[in-house]
Amino acid sequence: MYGLINKAVEGLVRSRFGAETWHRIRMRAGLKDEPFVSMEQYGDEMTYGLVAAASEELGVPAEAILEEFGVYWVRYTADAGYGELMKTAGRTLPEFLANLDQMHTRVQLSFPNLRPPSFTVRNATDDSLELHYYSERAGLAPLVVGLLKGLGERFGLALEITVRRVEDGRPHDAFDVRWKKASA
Ligand code: HEM
Repeated sequence: MYGLINKAVEGLVRSRFGAETWHRIRMRAGLKDEPFVSMEQYGDEMTYGLVAAASEELGVPAEAILEEFGVYWVRYTADAGYGELMKTAGRTLPEFLANLDQMHTRVQLSFPNLRPPSFTVRNATDDSLELHYYSERAGLAPLVVGLLKGLGERFGLALEITVRRVEDGRPHDAFDVRWKKASA
């Protein structure tokens, strides 16, 4: 994945746990002491390795780290020069989720070798929808839960999320999302 992702993982660890902890995680993951370059592509195994090392170092499950990273990512991209892109993706949660693929297509203009996931919204009502998530990568459903929570925060909504596996022609994870206005 592009360095932008690894950089954000570093940003999350540094801001929550400090430089020392980041150093230990980086060493445990066997990474050289070099800064990540946003526009450079790194193997997926480096990102998975970072999450595994953080999980061991902090003593929390990898799923919890992925979820927290998802929440952080929504805030991070809004501040890291992608605020406009986030804004144009939608003014409500359902609108935003329906535009996710289009948003990644626009990201692809700056990151030409992007291998983005794909999302479809189904059965939307006034306070619920199903989000279907297709990816060539395994194990990232907890990341999507965190991303959804981050988007809930962004739109002032409290979300209830259930994940289920759909074993149809193209097996994938689906998220049943229900929301109400978050109390202040
Ligand atoms: C403007 C904001 C965003 C930017 C700049 C962005 C950019 C990226 C980049 C660079 C990757 C790595 C893919 C690769 O290198 O091949 C990625 C992956 C991903 N993005 Fe986004 N993204 C944004 C917002 C979102 C949002 C709001 C979601 C919410 C669902 C999302 C869902 C994902 C997921 C789940 C992946 C993991 C890859 C996979 O599933 O295969 N992204 N994104």
